[in-house]
Amino acid sequence: MENIDWGNLGFGYIKTDSNVRAYWRDGKWGPLTMTNDETITMHMAATCLHYGQEAFEGLKAYRGKDGKVRLFRVEENARRMARTAEYTKMVPPTEELFIEAVKMVVNANSRFIPPYGTGASLYIRPLLIGTGAQVGVNPSKEYLFMVFVTPVGPYYKTGFNAIKVMIDRDHDRAAPHGTGNIKVGGNYAASLLSAEIGHQKGFPSVLYLDPSEKKYIDECGAANFFGIRDGVYITPDSTSILPSITNKSIMQIAKDMGLKVEKRKVDISELATFEEAGSCGTAAVISPVGKIYDFDEDKVYTYGDGVTAGPWTKKLYETLRGIQYGEIPDPYGWVTIL
Ligand code: PLP
Ligand code: COI
Repeated sequence: MENIDWGNLGFGYIKTDSNVRAYWRDGKWGPLTMTNDETITMHMAATCLHYGQEAFEGLKAYRGKDGKVRLFRVEENARRMARTAEYTKMVPPTEELFIEAVKMVVNANSRFIPPYGTGASLYIRPLLIGTGAQVGVNPSKEYLFMVFVTPVGPYYKTGFNAIKVMIDRDHDRAAPHGTGNIKVGGNYAASLLSAEIGHQKGFPSVLYLDPSEKKYIDECGAANFFGIRDGVYITPDSTSILPSITNKSIMQIAKDMGLKVEKRKVDISELATFEEAGSCGTAAVISPVGKIYDFDEDKVYTYGDGVTAGPWTKKLYETLRGIQYGEIPDPYGWVTIL
């Protein structure tokens, strides 16, 4: 096992032993190869550099209580990358190639999978880019699919303590019927300025509103948003939200815990009615939201004591984590044991 301070890991890049790659050339995928090279060489006119032909994914491998390593819903990430590729006219890896690449890179870097009990995990980053040269706006004829891994701790410094977020009405991360519901790098480039404005004001994340009417809740930074009220788990439905695999899983867990689940437009006025609020995603896991600042309307919404997770949020978190780390049975067939 690597000599890393696992319990104090942040969310950043740490060099591991290897990554895996395959190229689409001449109409077919070449072999998956493993390399310790952290760099990519490509043509200066590659479509990923100029026209944003880029898709990425994020999932994690967890070292369980029983010592076994689990992947969480890897097929879902493969399917989402295929959807992103479809919209951006790229050639996606087949589901088999995607899963094989993930298994190969995780197995090859097993000394970087954090020990059970440290709260850390191995973040897996699949990437698909157009590498062929084009100067006209056209899809590439060549693609690189690669997967690297890096051990990570909590996405927010607060860990499972609540974050405070601010509503940003001045920026959108995606257009109403654009790329918000797929995972392209451009959405993240479009979020960097608002994230920096948020950070400067002391907020680790910003809450976006729907880009057409600015009336409904959209994404919460790089995560989905949820609120809980009167035994109902409520999460926004919007054409510009990324369908989160974590959120989909939480909705299932919530139902099975006896919560009612509503995925629908969430009017901003409902923020005043929630008993609990949170954000969720692979990186964010479940990060409770303690306070939401709406500077334009001169309002602050506080959930619970504003610092600790509410009771439902805590229960959902424990069940999700329990399944991921093999502490409790996985009745849904979500984990792949390596
Ligand atoms: N929304 C955005 C914008 C994200 O970047 C992510 C992270 O992948 C999510 C939501 C959460 O999705 P998932 O739970 O599939 O990781
Ligand atoms: C993820 O949760 O995997 C994300 O995409 C968040 C971020 C690190 C981009």
